[in-house]
Amino acid sequence: MITKAKIIEAYKFRHACKLFDTTKKISDSDMNFILETGLLSPSSFGFEPWHFIVVQNPELRTKLKESAWGATAKLDSASHFIIGLTMKAPLTKYDSPYIEDFMRNIQELPENVIVQKGAAYEAFQKSDFDLSDDRKLFDWASKQCYIPLANMMTSAAMIGIDSCPIEGFNQSISEKILKEDLGVDTNLYGLSYMVAFGYRVNDPRPKTRRSLNNMVTFK
Ligand SMILES: Cc1cc2nc3c(=O)[nH]c(=O)nc-3n(C[C@H](O)[C@H](O)[C@H](O)COP(=O)(O)O)c2cc1C
Repeated sequence: MITKAKIIEAYKFRHACKLFDTTKKISDSDMNFILETGLLSPSSFGFEPWHFIVVQNPELRTKLKESAWGATAKLDSASHFIIGLTMKAPLTKYDSPYIEDFMRNIQELPENVIVQKGAAYEAFQKSDFDLSDDRKLFDWASKQCYIPLANMMTSAAMIGIDSCPIEGFNQSISEKILKEDLGVDTNLYGLSYMVAFGYRVNDPRPKTRRSLNNMVTFK
């Protein structure tokens, strides 16, 4: 087993890296490892309401800079630059063909369980969480998409790879670019975040955080 000290070391190693070394590229094997830790992330009902686009094409990266003010230096320097997309209502609503297909072909559930789980998912959306409009449904799914984000950044840190999560963009202009230049069906997917991976140029300033006592209440 990996030691606690090593795990904390990785968490401290991870920081929001502002500038990456353009001479260093993440190997395919390391990038697949990072993506696999995203894939293994938990999600509500296990429906994995996310999709990732790895943008390596320089022209597309330049295009993204038009709306992603918080990503400019990262788009120029990151070894790998990922767009984190969240599924929208036509895919995530309880009665969508995606959900039924997912239960049958990905989760490999028997038919009677598909009916039961489908009913529970419908009740959850209608009453438990009040996911009654498309925006609420998107925001609920988007919250889940931050779980693979966190896992990917931490697993990257564990193998000495830096990252930066990015919400510094205009969402609607970015989605227009995703639609027109990257072929994303924006009826089905919305933009939650971007995340850059690579190797640092500069060391970060020491971490500043609240104390555990300030963050947690035990009752
Ligand atoms: C959801 C989210 C969005 C962020 N957006 C940006 C961004 O657009 N540009 C940037 O340089 N850093 C961004 N950050 C990084 C934060 O500023 C950073 O994580 C925070 O200041 C703590 O510093 P540390 O990650 O280095 O420990 C973002 C972080 C999160 C979690």
